[in-house]
Amino acid sequence: MKGVILAGGLGTRLYPLTKITNKHLLPLYDKPMIYYPLITMVKAGIKDIMIITGGNNAGDFIRLLQNGQEFGLTQLNYAYQEKEGGIAHALAIAENFVDKDKVLVILGDNIVEDDISAAVSDFETQKRGAKIFLKEIKTPKDYGVAEIKGGKIIGIEEKPKHPKSNLAVIGVYMYDSTVFDIVKQIKPSARGEMEITDVNNWYIQEGTLTYHILKGWWGDAGASVDALLETNNFIARKVKNEGPNHWWNWTAWKNSQ
Ligand code: G1P
Repeated sequence: MKGVILAGGLGTRLYPLTKITNKHLLPLYDKPMIYYPLITMVKAGIKDIMIITGGNNAGDFIRLLQNGQEFGLTQLNYAYQEKEGGIAHALAIAENFVDKDKVLVILGDNIVEDDISAAVSDFETQKRGAKIFLKEIKTPKDYGVAEIKGGKIIGIEEKPKHPKSNLAVIGVYMYDSTVFDIVKQIKPSARGEMEITDVNNWYIQEGTLTYHILKGWWGDAGASVDALLETNNFIARKVKNEGPNHWWNWTAWKNSQ
């Protein structure tokens, strides 16, 4: 399976922090934000990774990550998104890179505490379709929200006023290569973006969307300055309390690569 990290966008919800840099380069405790989705992927066994970014700071990603040696990689791939257009629009850039393979997509500001290896292995054996990650939260209305009946997702609504469940669709998704045909078919939403929720609903119609509910903590660090602070605090507490036993511990991680 290939890995794609989406690290574009203007980061306007974090202004002025993101006026002169990309939000995925901002610090989360002792590491830049982009390190976390990279560690999540590598820990799940995915080593063929592409980072898609845009704007004025694309070169900073190469300066920071180089060929990914610190993550145990020998090569990292980069692509440039020329215009913002939503998650599905950004993902389309990875078509040639993913080719006929499956792909794990992580939004670069989505921080998950769980090791997702088991779900990744599950999806390796899933014949076709997609698998998404859900997290039960108190106020899901700012996210994609999944409705489940009889153990199956029957619909996802993007930022609904009246959510049908407490299950947020988080920014970690797995797709088969048909995703690239789907993104070509969907139309921009009211906010002018090609919505990943439309892509996921397409798979629901096809009857091939499965899901995994996360047990551990989830942070959407780029959602607001408060979310950024909360994510920083959570990570700092974890790393301090659990020391080298926690996979977010940078010294321990580097030594293990
Ligand atoms: C996007 C997706 C939404 C998802 C969220 C997770 O929202 O559209 O479905 O729940 O990421 O972070 P956005 O950040 O574009 O508002």
